[in-house]
Amino acid sequence: MNNHYPFELIPLPYDYQALEPYIDTQTMMVHHDGHLKTYVDNLNKALRDYPKYHFWSLEKLLINVDRLPGKIRTAVKNNGGGVYNHDFYFYIMGNTNNEPSQKMLRLIENSFGSYNQFFTKFKEAALSVFGSGWAILAADPNGGMRIVTIANQDTLLRTRLFPILSIDVWEHAYYLKHQNRRADYIDDWFHVIDWRAVEDNLIAGRLL
Ligand SMILES: [Fe+2]
Repeated sequence: MNNHYPFELIPLPYDYQALEPYIDTQTMMVHHDGHLKTYVDNLNKALRDYPKYHFWSLEKLLINVDRLPGKIRTAVKNNGGGVYNHDFYFYIMGNTNNEPSQKMLRLIENSFGSYNQFFTKFKEAALSVFGSGWAILAADPNGGMRIVTIANQDTLLRTRLFPILSIDVWEHAYYLKHQNRRADYIDDWFHVIDWRAVEDNLIAGRLL
C-alpha cells in the first residue's frame, strides 16, 4: 500500500457489518466507500499535476502543507487530512469485544483519575465539537495523555501531541442510525473500540 501518490483507499480491517448493532452497515459503507474514497480521489486529483510531491508521504504533505503551491494547499490540507483521520479512525475500531489492558487503565487513571472520568471527559469533548471535527485522546510529550478536539480535517501532525484514539463526530459518521443523537453514537462507539489497536498507538506514541 502506497504512502505516497497515488494514494489508495485502504480497505476496512473488518467487514462492513462487523460493528453492528452499534455502528450500522450502511453507515460504514457510505463512510468508507463514499466519504473516505472521495478524500483519496480528491487528494490524488490535487497532486496529479505536481510530480515534485509524488513521493512525499501523507504525513510529510500535511506537516509541510505551507510549502505546497497555493493552488493545491487547501485541497491537500482538507483531503489529505480526511484520509489521515479516517484511516486512523477505522483502524482503532473492531468487533473484538476486548477491553483496555491493565497498562492502558493505569495510564488513563494517571491522567484522568479513573476510567469513568476519562469516559465522561471524552464524551463531553466529543459533544462540544461544533459542526464537523474530531475528539482525540492524545499522548503528550511528558508521558501523559490529554483529550483535545480539532475541527474539520485538521490533524495533530503539527503539534507535539500524538493521537491514541479518535472519534469522528461529523454527522456522516452516525446520522443514518442515530440521527441527531450524537450522545448515543458516542456511547455506542465505545463498544467498538479495538483496545489492542489503541495499544499499538500507545507504543507508537511512546507511552508503553
Ligand atoms: Fe468521517
